[in-house]
Amino acid sequence: MNSRPLNVGLIGLGTVGSQVAERMLSWGPQLSRRAGVELCLKRVLVRDVAKRRTVEVSSDLLTADPADLLDDQSIEVLIEVAGGDEPIRSYVEQAIRAGKHVITANKVVMAKHGPELLDLAAEKNVDVYFEAAVGGGIPLISAFRTDLQANRIERVSAVINGTTNYVLGRMASAGLPMSDAVREAQDAGYAEADPTDDIGGFDATYKLAILASIAYEIKVRPDEIFREGIEGIEPVDFRYARELGYAIKLIAHTQRHPGRVEARVHPAMIPLDHPLARVEGAENAVFVEGDLVGQVLLVGQGAGGRPTASAVVGDLIDLARSIRRGVQSRPSFSFDDRVGVVPIGEVKTRAYYRMLAEDRPGVVAAVGQVFAEEGVSISSFIQKDAWSHDQTAELVVTTHPSLDASLQRARERMARLEAVRSVSSFLRVF
Ligand SMILES: NC(=O)c1ccc[n+]([C@@H]2O[C@H](COP(=O)([O-])OP(=O)(O)OC[C@H]3O[C@@H](n4cnc5c(N)ncnc54)[C@H](OP(=O)(O)O)[C@@H]3O)[C@@H](O)[C@H]2O)c1
Repeated sequence: MNSRPLNVGLIGLGTVGSQVAERMLSWGPQLSRRAGVELCLKRVLVRDVAKRRTVEVSSDLLTADPADLLDDQSIEVLIEVAGGDEPIRSYVEQAIRAGKHVITANKVVMAKHGPELLDLAAEKNVDVYFEAAVGGGIPLISAFRTDLQANRIERVSAVINGTTNYVLGRMASAGLPMSDAVREAQDAGYAEADPTDDIGGFDATYKLAILASIAYEIKVRPDEIFREGIEGIEPVDFRYARELGYAIKLIAHTQRHPGRVEARVHPAMIPLDHPLARVEGAENAVFVEGDLVGQVLLVGQGAGGRPTASAVVGDLIDLARSIRRGVQSRPSFSFDDRVGVVPIGEVKTRAYYRMLAEDRPGVVAAVGQVFAEEGVSISSFIQKDAWSHDQTAELVVTTHPSLDASLQRARERMARLEAVRSVSSFLRVF
């Protein structure tokens, strides 16, 4: 064991930070033995030093002044578990410039600025670890960084947002409307008071930007990813999905194309026998396909203080070992700027439409004509009386794979048909 301790600065002592501190303070000898060096929690930055904490941390360690960590040359490693973009991005950059290694759980910073921070870290000869930024406790980044390195990654499909998975699960199993399912998720501690980030698919988009960037070693920005949230889904869609043999999930998907990649986040119908269809509650799952390894499924708790701290402290041990050995145990990244993202209109996918139409002759023919003119071939067609709507029928159509642009045009044109009251749902089918 190295005689000089490795000093660590921690930013954030909330849900994740308190579990990181707890592990470091209560399990010191075990962690140090695994790291080959004593790990010393030197300083903890918070906003309010007077706040009551769930973990017992000596008041001498707490500070509200970032300089107490960033300018302390004895601190070699900065763990950032505060969250948000600024000022945290600047703290991370300052730390790297000062020659500190960084471990972060911050998906926003890594999705928006990860490639630049990793380039800067490579220049300064320090490392940035971010296992906890995607999939909480599931070892994803290390899988890409080390275990799957020999592969050309072909595609990654994931259920990567626990909140939406919980909400969709409750809508499916209990027939709840979305507003009730969201309230239940908030009461159970799975959803924030303002659930927009999750429900709108933003959180999943940040995570997919990180996953796609490391899977293909290209710069994929969150704003390049097609994003659609789960807001439009109604309980009746789950009944039709089941009837057709599907589950409905918020899917983050990326796939390699010649010279480009596909990257999209949206609700989708998944065949019931697909592993992602079986992901329950707030769990996350990531389905990776590599040319050498074939298919790999990684499943686990994608959030929560303890699983996320498991990833953060795991990174710390790995980093500590490589610092003490004087070698970087993991390869650094080199990001290719030239590879672009395929626009959603050019993506080929299957689709599900649910519409309300007048129950009279000629409607089905009119709908069929729109699809034919857009070059979209129909795979299944269900017509049911919609009892709640007088003289109205519910039409459910699924299609064979077509260009997304054609599917969207068909959707708009059908909504304009005289006999169609509304196209109530549109979902892509995996
Ligand atoms: N919670 C999860 O399940 C989970 C899972 C995966 C990843 N993450 C990521 O982990 C990070 C932390 O999440 P969390 O849930 O632990 O958040 P949290 O409970 O809100 O805790 C945030 C902590 O950071 C401190 N903080 C925030 N802004 C700060 C600033 N500008 N300067 C100094 N301290 C600041 C807060 O200080 P005060 O306590 O004084 O207010 C608080 O202690 C986020 O990036 C999040 O996305 C969280």
